[in-house]
Amino acid sequence: MKHETVCGLDIGTTKTCTVVAAGGPAGLEIIGVGEVPSLGMRKGVVVDLDETIKSIEAASERAERMAGVHVSEVIVGITGDHIRSTNNRAVVAVSSEEREVSSSDVRRVVDASKIINLPSDRQIIHALPRYFTVDGQEGVSDPVGMAGGRLEVDTHIITGSTSFITNVLKCVERAGLEAGGVVFEPLASSAATLMHEEKQVGVVLLDIGGGTTDIAVYSLGSAIYTATIPVGGNVLTSDISLGLKTTLGEAEAVKKRLGAEPSDQEFSVRTLDGRATREHTTAELRQIVVPRVVETLRMARQKIVENVPRDIVLGEVVLTGGGALLPNIEPLAEEVFALPVRIGTLKSVAGLTDALTAPQYATAIGLALFGANGARDDVMHPGRRRGGISAKIQRWLADLWT
Ligand SMILES: Nc1ncnc2c1ncn2[C@@H]1O[C@H](COP(=O)(O)OP(=O)(O)OP(=O)(O)O)[C@@H](O)[C@H]1O
Ligand SMILES: [Mg+2]
Repeated sequence: MKHETVCGLDIGTTKTCTVVAAGGPAGLEIIGVGEVPSLGMRKGVVVDLDETIKSIEAASERAERMAGVHVSEVIVGITGDHIRSTNNRAVVAVSSEEREVSSSDVRRVVDASKIINLPSDRQIIHALPRYFTVDGQEGVSDPVGMAGGRLEVDTHIITGSTSFITNVLKCVERAGLEAGGVVFEPLASSAATLMHEEKQVGVVLLDIGGGTTDIAVYSLGSAIYTATIPVGGNVLTSDISLGLKTTLGEAEAVKKRLGAEPSDQEFSVRTLDGRATREHTTAELRQIVVPRVVETLRMARQKIVENVPRDIVLGEVVLTGGGALLPNIEPLAEEVFALPVRIGTLKSVAGLTDALTAPQYATAIGLALFGANGARDDVMHPGRRRGGISAKIQRWLADLWT
């Protein structure tokens, strides 16, 4: 029996990852994954078209081979310092004479909320409804069928630079794939890791990648603030390499093994010329690692403090991205945010191997989940609109998006 497949493509700063998922009896199942190093990306944006195309081709070929299917359409992740977000509000008169809100009224009001003052080189990536207001009654999550004459919506709008987005899409197309949708990466990471209750209570998702740290803040079930900081785990590696006078490869290995390890230990690294080894202590390593990690986390916190209203309750911080694996990062984040912190391992999806539940795959898997819900209006569809996957999977996925 042939199953419908959906595919997520995460073109990260350090790795390009393609995930193929298929609709099965138990919902969505991951059937193929391909991962290769990214050589053409810097801080989330394309700096070398040819290298990026090669990475996309190689990752997708691997995923196709594993899945045993041909992939043509992918949901593509976007990030980078060019992303901006804002909240907007719009109002329409309910069109039916019976004064009953219809889905076309909902579409009209969400479209009206997309009318913002946008420079010509920027475009809207998402318009995410936060809540609706019907005849002054706030906090309505699904107004269709309700009685009323005046429909308002509060949306979270995410925009990006048209040229940066076009460059990513060019690479996707030249790699022989069609972009079925574009999704801001932390929303994909959230879809793969956050629980419904966490989004209701209020949660901060931080995706600490190689070149960027992406932020998504949820309250009362929807995204209320999103942003990107152009600093990620790679800067830690170069700090360690400079501090311990060793190669980037050695620095990366030490970072992953010891990170901000609190206990006192000795370790040795090779010198820059590779001819000798030198002894160091974890105390020295912490002096390099901790200030940089705390600085990055404080930058994220500062953005949230400046942009999220004070009366919004936030109950937790969830860390994803490869940077979340830094040994002993949780207590540092707990101190900076004064909130409980958890590492965002993947929600249970069939076909996930242990390796794939690691936080650096949250974006790619989340993108495939978005693909399975292709009929959503809040995803930017650069080309043809897809019909979406079967109703059964739609239902299974329904709780992902609330
Ligand atoms: N065990 C670990 N400890 C510390 N850092 C780690 C560990 N594993 C991976 N990293 C770091 O995570 C980063 C890569 O994370 P990830 O794969 O999420 O990035 P990316 O998606 O390619 O980049 P970006 O999202 O910034 O575009 C690298 O800096 C890497 O050194
Ligand atoms: Mg990433």
